[in-house]
Amino acid sequence: SDEESGGEEYLFKIVIIGDSAVGKSNLLSRYARNEFNMHSKATIGVEFQTQVLDIDGKEVKAQVWDTAGQERFRAVTSAYYRGAVGALVVYDISRRSTFDSIARWLDELKTHSETTVVRMLVGNKCDLENIRAVRIEEGKTLAEEEGLFFMETSALDSTNVKKAFEIVIREIY
Ligand code: GTP
Ligand code: MG
Repeated sequence: SDEESGGEEYLFKIVIIGDSAVGKSNLLSRYARNEFNMHSKATIGVEFQTQVLDIDGKEVKAQVWDTAGQERFRAVTSAYYRGAVGALVVYDISRRSTFDSIARWLDELKTHSETTVVRMLVGNKCDLENIRAVRIEEGKTLAEEEGLFFMETSALDSTNVKKAFEIVIREIY
């Protein structure tokens, strides 16, 4: 145990939120297992994966939680957010409606978590440039207005996935 080895332990809970099918589960599987599923099913309930990182010689465990974007499949909201110190708030750059929902997700996050939560706005599916429906500047502007970090990612081709998680984790640390 860490007690025995004399090490200090850091365990950070990070939640992923956003509309259904924006790619939350694939962002997590790409980050935690380097896996992508083109035909993934909608999440029901809650799943989490723990990723161990070394930051400045300290062992940091990031416990990343993923739930359903669809209301009817979601876990108990307050339990999902409890203890979270980081959040990825995700939209799909090819579906405008998912960007329009971000305000609602930020409201829910504010209601259920501490004000100190480190938040990253994530525009996922940046590989779909040919059917882009949200300009990168729009994401940047919203993030600036709300005081969030911002990144476009692709769980499909791995662009910025590790980076997005690690910026949040380092900022928490
Ligand atoms: P819910 O669990 O219903 O909330 O959905 P989710 O946000 O977890 O979405 P999920 O990860 O299941 O992905 C939905 C669909 O988008 C799947 O068909 C994925 O293969 C696809 N997808 C996810 N990320 C990307 C990406 O970066 N690029 C592309 N082109 N497709 C993606
Ligand atoms: Mg899912």
